[in-house]
Amino acid sequence: MTEYQTITAADTVTRDGAIKLYDADGFAGMRKAGRLAAEILDALAPHVVPGVTTAELDDIVAGMTRTAGAVPATLGYRGYTHSSCISINHVVCHGIPSAKTLKDGDIINVDVTPLLDGWHGDSSRMYLVGDVGVKARRLVDITYECLMLGIDAARPGNHMGDIGHAIQAHAEKHRYGVVRDVGGHGVGRVFHDAPEVVHLGRPGTGPELKPGMIFTIEPMINIGRPDVKVLDDGWTAVTRDRSLSAQFEHSIGITDDGCEIFTASPAGRHRPPYF
Ligand code: MF3
Ligand code: CO
Ligand code: CO
Repeated sequence: MTEYQTITAADTVTRDGAIKLYDADGFAGMRKAGRLAAEILDALAPHVVPGVTTAELDDIVAGMTRTAGAVPATLGYRGYTHSSCISINHVVCHGIPSAKTLKDGDIINVDVTPLLDGWHGDSSRMYLVGDVGVKARRLVDITYECLMLGIDAARPGNHMGDIGHAIQAHAEKHRYGVVRDVGGHGVGRVFHDAPEVVHLGRPGTGPELKPGMIFTIEPMINIGRPDVKVLDDGWTAVTRDRSLSAQFEHSIGITDDGCEIFTASPAGRHRPPYF
């Protein structure tokens, strides 16, 4: 049974299993936090070049987040100690920033979640490092299309399964694997809230989408099999078959006639190449 809970500015919000329905104040808060996430991802683009370390990129995220009066929600989250997740090539998600340098031909995902005035703006994009091969670029393109097709299905009256189905159908048409083990999530006052957003499914199944719902869509798509494993560091998720993986993420809110994307790029850097 799916429980929905109406949230106004005065309410304390906890991860209690209910799907939250936010009001105009919530949408205004998410608009600001989401815009900051997008500006951070915009600003990273010129810095993603061969030779840069992922720790250096993480420092840029940390600096911009704090300058804007926000805090990286990942810092101290379940023991995580960085301001972003940076996932290279076969890393599916939750890659830990380090002294590792990017090399020509890599594809990377940077995932940021500034917490601004109590609102979580959660978004990630892919970046191409130098000259990237055609297979990897195609994976990145199709993954972006999967996200946007999922967003197209995000409107009142539809169900979560419609979003998952749209993503799965497009990925599998291209013979890619859709990751099942990690999904999107309710977001807003809480970083990871109900409902779970599964990036596969059957039309008409799962919770009904209602105005006021705020959640992420963040498909992880593999050139190979969908299976992932988590490395001994407890975070880094990689494809079991070591095939390349890509991901894009937006935070969105369901409106009366569709949805609002809170994390759209103000600079128009929606998908690479960004220059
Ligand atoms: N931003 C990630 C997401 O999209 C979560 C990262 S949690 C961390 O949900 F602890 F790994 F940073
Ligand atoms: Co997320
Ligand atoms: Co994220």
